[in-house]
Amino acid sequence: MRKFAILVVNGPNLGYLGKRQPEIYGTESMDDLPDMVREVLGQEKANRVELQFFQSNGEGAIIDRLEQAWRDGVDGIILNAGAYTHTSLALADCLAWIGLPCVEVHLSNVLARTEEPLRQVSHIGKRAIGVIAGFGLVSYALAAQALWLHFMNNQNATIKE
Ligand code: DQA
Repeated sequence: MRKFAILVVNGPNLGYLGKRQPEIYGTESMDDLPDMVREVLGQEKANRVELQFFQSNGEGAIIDRLEQAWRDGVDGIILNAGAYTHTSLALADCLAWIGLPCVEVHLSNVLARTEEPLRQVSHIGKRAIGVIAGFGLVSYALAAQALWLHFMNNQNATIKE
């Protein structure tokens, strides 16, 4: 049975998770994600998921990495584009053409941050299969579960549960 490769991409200012404004973004770091994915998916399914990680503060570097994911035949993307979520047509354009299933995630509940209305705008969301926000690092684990279900619903005849 083959494994499913999921690329977790973090955009600008997400390189110091756990340290950056923990009152907004939580105290956990990306190192805690594999255990959390195991907890959400269960050991057996988690064994069939290969997590890859990438973080960059640069828009172009993120696009380069997404294009590489397309070349590599990665199965799905979990993307927290940080502030680029709200501004980057270039990232949205990239997702549009590579066509990989992408779940947009946020640590904070961007919809509840009404004092900053721009955070409620997402260019990424238009190109994502769904959006999960507000659960801290758990948002990423739930995104992995959503992608797993997406893979299972779309698998071809050669892949067995
Ligand atoms: C964020 C929300 C964005 O508005 C912000 O610019 C970030 C983090 C989140 O995960 O809550 O950098 O994407």
